[in-house]
Amino acid sequence: MSRVIYNTATTLNGFLADDEDSLSWLFVVPGADQAESSFSVFLKGVGALVMGSTTYEWILAHESLLENPEKWFYQDIVSFVLSSRPMPEVPGADIRFRRGDVEGIWQELESAAGDRDIWLVGGGDLVGQFADAGRLDEIRVSVAPVTLESGKPLLPRRLESDRLTLESARQAGQFAELVYSVRSDSGG
Ligand SMILES: NC(=O)c1ccc[n+]([C@@H]2O[C@H](COP(=O)([O-])OP(=O)(O)OC[C@H]3O[C@@H](n4cnc5c(N)ncnc54)[C@H](OP(=O)(O)O)[C@@H]3O)[C@@H](O)[C@H]2O)c1
Repeated sequence: MSRVIYNTATTLNGFLADDEDSLSWLFVVPGADQAESSFSVFLKGVGALVMGSTTYEWILAHESLLENPEKWFYQDIVSFVLSSRPMPEVPGADIRFRRGDVEGIWQELESAAGDRDIWLVGGGDLVGQFADAGRLDEIRVSVAPVTLESGKPLLPRRLESDRLTLESARQAGQFAELVYSVRSDSGG
């Protein structure tokens, strides 16, 4: 059965991006290549991914994907973008645009992932929607030595220690890689 895993980089004080959706603070952290190597191992186990429209629009703009569709990173991963608005499509990429609650897309998502895992790319509220639905199994964060005054939150939900268990902690360059298993609300 696929596991649902939120894997992201974050600031020390829990932001995914600054208020302008910039990741400039992330790209200058030393040791990103070491964090990258464990990420590529993770990616091999992923069959489907889910992201919100802000994240998708950021990737489109950052990589100029409409002009260079071959730069879409996730060629062998079925990608789901959640949005209530029409979104530009990257030619040749298997990107499915969906809206609505997690249960409404769950069967399609699970079947797209096959025997591999489902990666929640973000943002934080999208991951919160999976947690609310009892469909979040693991959180893997690469904590950067950065704090920001404000920004886009890592996970704007209350999950206390009865639901989160620290499974591992390792250093990769200047990042702390933390893996937590998540227990669903119902105790499952
Ligand atoms: N540090 C990292 O490694 C990392 C990782 C991921 C993301 N990021 C960055 O963090 C920021 C995240 O932005 P964000 O928190 O605003 O989140 P987001 O999840 O990327 O986008 C949120 C938007 O997605 C749409 N959406 C979400 N759930 C939906 C649903 N169930 N049905 C329909 N539409 C839905 C809504 O917009 P519409 O309906 O209006 O389209 C919503 O406003 C971005 O800048 C991203 O680039 C950083």
